[in-house]
Amino acid sequence: MVFSVKARGNDKNIGLGTTDGGQRTTLWWSNDLGGGRFFRRRGRRRHPYVPLKEIRYMPQLYSTQPKHIAIIMDGNGRWATQRGLPRTEGHKAGAEAVIRVLDCCRKYDVRYLTLYAFSTENWKRSVTEVTALMNLLFDFLEKKGQELIQNRIRLRVIGEIERLPWPARRKLQSFIQATEHFSDYNLTLALSYGGRSEIVGAAAKLAQQVKEGTLEPSAITEEVFASALQTAEMPDPDLIMRTAGEQRLSNFLLWQCSYAEFLFIDTLWPDFAESDFVGALEAFSQRQRRYGKA
Ligand code: FPP
Repeated sequence: MVFSVKARGNDKNIGLGTTDGGQRTTLWWSNDLGGGRFFRRRGRRRHPYVPLKEIRYMPQLYSTQPKHIAIIMDGNGRWATQRGLPRTEGHKAGAEAVIRVLDCCRKYDVRYLTLYAFSTENWKRSVTEVTALMNLLFDFLEKKGQELIQNRIRLRVIGEIERLPWPARRKLQSFIQATEHFSDYNLTLALSYGGRSEIVGAAAKLAQQVKEGTLEPSAITEEVFASALQTAEMPDPDLIMRTAGEQRLSNFLLWQCSYAEFLFIDTLWPDFAESDFVGALEAFSQRQRRYGKA
């Protein structure tokens, strides 16, 4: 197997690796790479080989790695109930898992992460729970917003941002603006989001342009339609995961999921760990994506 290793922060290939009978791996790289923890210069006698297990989970190790992972974070309530705690404690622990998964994306070089943090249907939950979720969002941005900037992570929101309480909305808008020139990593929060509503919004936008005479109905292609969605600037997700055992989409990224791989795992979201993330990368690398071809 031959695979490439990419540099953080750009799309340049920095090295190539080959496995030798699946047991050992030889890695080499170009001159401008400097030192590295796991990789050794080709031809050096001291460390010509690196055991496969040692480098298995390095960034972009798998030849087919998802560029965009989208996650339905489920199981906060069950996690709390199992511990005799109020549901809001589950959400609090879920917010910690958000931080872990964000770190994983940087560590394993997954450039786009989209998290289903609050659906349009979630407004039907109790006032206490909705308020707790909005407060958590505010706290998350308050505590982690600066790290988004430091780590060059672009923040986006999809959904009805105007329905969110003003303090959370203001914080979101300020970090969306402060990070809009970054492109290395991309965090998208789906907030008050529903896939059907997003599609209806795109259809209405295009219908308006037709009405105004700026768009011909015959010019509406899949690409034009996709450009009217809130995810217009983002690649479609390669992998959509859902935690906590349920196997449904719950109105998440209905247009964008057309060619996504799906992965359902039993782990409750607050327990989501690096090993779950790596397991997902591994599972994805074993899928064969044919896009309708034979
Ligand atoms: C679903 O679990 C989870 C949610 C509706 C909210 C997700 C929110 C967070 C992970 C925390 C805040 C987010 C950010 C971005 C800081 P559930 O409550 O439906 O769980 P259950 O199915 O076990 O009841």
